[in-house]
Amino acid sequence: MTDTGNPVDYSIRDGVAVLMLNAPPVNGLSTSLRAGLNSGLLAAKADDAVDAVVIIGAGKMFCGGADITEFASGKVSEPDLNVICASLETYGKPVVAAIHGHALGGGLELALGCHHRIAAPDAKLGFPEVTLGVLPGGGGTQRAPRLVGVPVALDLILSGRMIGALDALGVGLIDAVAKGDLLEDAIALALDAAGRPDGLRSVRDLPVKDAGNAPEAIATALKKVLRRAPDAAAPKAIARCIEFAVLDADFDQGLVFEREEFLKLMNGAQSKALRHLFFVEKAAVKIPNLEKDLPLRAIERVGIIGAGTMGGGIAMNFLNAGMPVTLLEIDAGALARGIDKIRGTYSANIDKGRMTQAQMDKRMGLLKGSTSYDEMADRDLVIEAVFENMGIKQEVCAKLGEVCKPGAIIASNTSTLNVDMIADASGRPDDFLGMHFFSPANIMRLLEVVRGAKTAPDVLATVMGLARRIGKVAVVSGVCYGFIGNRMLEGYLREMDFLLMEGATPTQIDAALEGFGMAMGPCRMMDMAGVDVNALVLNEREAEGALPADPAYRALVRKLGALGRNGQKTGLGYYRYDGRTAIADPEVDKIAADLAAQVGITRRSDITNAEICDRLLYPLINEGFKILDEGIAYRDGDIDVVWTAGYGWPPLTGGPMHLAETIGLAKLRDRLVELGQQTDDTHDYFTPAPLLSRRADGQA
Ligand code: COA
Ligand code: NAD
Repeated sequence: MTDTGNPVDYSIRDGVAVLMLNAPPVNGLSTSLRAGLNSGLLAAKADDAVDAVVIIGAGKMFCGGADITEFASGKVSEPDLNVICASLETYGKPVVAAIHGHALGGGLELALGCHHRIAAPDAKLGFPEVTLGVLPGGGGTQRAPRLVGVPVALDLILSGRMIGALDALGVGLIDAVAKGDLLEDAIALALDAAGRPDGLRSVRDLPVKDAGNAPEAIATALKKVLRRAPDAAAPKAIARCIEFAVLDADFDQGLVFEREEFLKLMNGAQSKALRHLFFVEKAAVKIPNLEKDLPLRAIERVGIIGAGTMGGGIAMNFLNAGMPVTLLEIDAGALARGIDKIRGTYSANIDKGRMTQAQMDKRMGLLKGSTSYDEMADRDLVIEAVFENMGIKQEVCAKLGEVCKPGAIIASNTSTLNVDMIADASGRPDDFLGMHFFSPANIMRLLEVVRGAKTAPDVLATVMGLARRIGKVAVVSGVCYGFIGNRMLEGYLREMDFLLMEGATPTQIDAALEGFGMAMGPCRMMDMAGVDVNALVLNEREAEGALPADPAYRALVRKLGALGRNGQKTGLGYYRYDGRTAIADPEVDKIAADLAAQVGITRRSDITNAEICDRLLYPLINEGFKILDEGIAYRDGDIDVVWTAGYGWPPLTGGPMHLAETIGLAKLRDRLVELGQQTDDTHDYFTPAPLLSRRADGQA
C-alpha cells in the first residue's frame, strides 16, 4: 500500500478494500479524514469486486479520536461520525476495524460502529473524553453498554482509562487479538465474516448487557468520580447517557440524546479549560528559540545524591523507567534507611495490587547504594537532593564537577536556592540546571526545569525529553526565588496567615479553597509539607533582607514553627492530628489572636468564603503576570501546567492564567485594587502587576 498523502488511502487485497487512515501524527478524525473515510466506504460498497472492508491506521496508531482542535468551532461538521457509523449498519458487506497503537475516543467509537474488531497485542483502547470535559459523542455511550455491559462501560467511560488488547478481548470490546500480521489477520477475518450469516452483526442491534441494578450501579460509579470534582459536568452527562441506553431501548433516540449532551459539554467552560490544558501541556516542552534538531545527550545511567524524602522518590522515577540508579548518602546508615524506604514504597504498591513482585525485583536490581563519589564518574546525569542549604549544595556540586565525566549533566533539586550560584560552584555551569521535583516525587507529575544563565541548550532539551521518558510534565522556569510555582504560592500563603490573624480559622480557609476546587486547602498543605521547612526558609529570607519590612508578614507560620508545631509530623500544626486526620485546634485560633494583637492586626468576624478565595487566589494570579513580564515563564500556559500538575489546582478552571481570562482581566485588576484599599495596603501586596494592567487595557 502506498502513502498518497490523502487522509485515507484506498487499496484492494484479496477482494477486501483496505481503507488506511493517514493523518499523522494520531489519525485524528478531522472533517477531512471523515470525508475521506466516507468516500472510501462508498467506493468499496459500490465495487462488486469488493466483498469486505478493513479500516486500519497508518503510522503509530489506529486513531487518537476526534480532532480536538475542531471543538473550538462549537459544532460538528459533516460528515458526522454518527452518519458514517449508521452507514456501516446497512452496509451489506462486513467492515473490520484493525487496531494497532491506540484506538481512543472517536477512534474507538468508529471501531464499535464496524461489524468486527481485531487488535494487535500491544494496542490500547479507551474513551478519554471525560478527561477533556466531554463524553463519547459518536455513539460510544450507547454502543459500549450493549457490547461490554453497563458496569464495564461505566468504568471505561467515566475513568477515561485505557485498557490493553487482551483486557479488551476479555470484556468483549474486541473480537480477536492478532496472532500474526495485523492487516493479514484482519483481511482473513473480513473474508470469513463475508461468508457467514452473522458476519454483518451490528452493535446497535444488541440488547444492553448486564443492566440489572443499573440505576444503582450508575449512581455509585458517578458518586465515586464526583468525590474528586463534585462540579464536573461531564461525568454527570455520561451517567445520564448510559442511563438513557438502559431505560430507553431505542438506539437512535439514544444517539440524539447523547449528541445533545455532547454539544452542551463541548461548548461549556469546563471542556474549554481541560482542552486548554491538553494543548498547553504539549506546548510546555517546546522551548522557544531552541534549534529544532539539536543533538541530545544520551542519558542511561543516573546518580542521585541524598536518599532522603526527595532523593528516594526521584530515584524511583528512573528505576520505574528501567534506568540504573546509584544513590549516594553521607554514611552507610543513612543509605540503608533511604534504600529501605524505597523498598517499603514498592512493597506497599504490591500490597495494593499496583505492582508485581517481579517488577519490584527488577527495579530494586537496578538500584545501587554508595557512599563514594567515585561511583558518580560513569553517570550520564547526577541530581543532588541534599539538605536545602547553599553551602552544602555548593560543596556537593563542586565535588560532582570534579568527578563526573565530561558531558554529564548535573542537576539540583533545590526548591528555593539560586541555581546559578550552585551551577557556578560546580565549575561547569553549562552542564548544569535545576530539576525541581515535587513531593512525593515518584507520584507528582510536575517537573520544573530551571534554566540557569549558562545552561547549555542541549542540556535543557535533553532534560525536557528525559522528563517525558519518566512520565513527568515538564515546564521551564527561569531563575528566581521559588521559580514559578513556589513564588506564586508565597502571596497565597501570606494571605492565609493574614486572614487567620484577622479571625478566620484554618477549617474555614481550607473549606473555602477546597470549595473552589483545590485538592487540599492551604493550612492542611502546610501541615503536610512541614511548617518548620517553610518557617526556616522565611527566616533565612528575612536575614537576607528579602522580605517586606512588615512585622506581620507570615508571622503566624513562623510562630507555629518556633513553637515546634511543625505539622503532621509532630501531630500539631495549623491543626491537631489524630493519625493523619486533621482536627480543628482552638489553640491555633488563640495563637493567631495573640499575634494579631502584637502586630497590630484588627480582628474581624465578617470574613466570608468569597473574600478568602479572592484574597488568596488573586495575588497568586497577579504574581503570574509578574513572572511572565520578567520572562521567568515563557507562556501563560506553562504557569497553568505548573499549578494543575504540581499544586492540586482544579483542572476544570484551566489553571490560574486561564482562570484570569475567564474572570476578565479588567475585573481581576479592579478587584485587586479594591482589596488593596480594603486592607490598607502599605506594602503593595495587591498592586496589580504592570502586565495585568496593560493587558486589561488591551495594550499587551
Ligand atoms: N486532536 C488533535 N490533536 C491531537 C489529538 C487529538 N485528538 N491527539 C493528539 N494530538 C496532537 C498533540 O497535540 C500533538 O501535537 P503537537 O505535536 O503539535 O504537540 C500531536 O498530536 C502528538 O500527540 P502526542 O500526545 O505527543 O503523541 P503521543 O504518541 O505521545 O500520544 C495519544 C498519542 C493519542 C495517546 C495522545 O495524543 C492523546 O491522548 N490524545 C488525546 C486523545 C483523546 O483524548 N481523544 C478523544 C478526543 S474527544
Ligand atoms: P531530607 O532531609 O529528607 O533529605 C536530605 C538527605 O540528604 C538526607 O538523607 C541527608 O543525609 C542527605 N545529605 C545531606 N548532605 C549530604 C551530602 N553532603 N552528601 C550526601 N547526602 C547528603 O530532605 P528532602 O526533603 O529530601 O529535601 C532535599 C532537597 O529537595 C532540598 O533541596 C529540598 O529543598 C528539595 N525539595 C524538597 C521537597 C519536599 O517537599 N520535601 C520538595 C521539592 C524539593
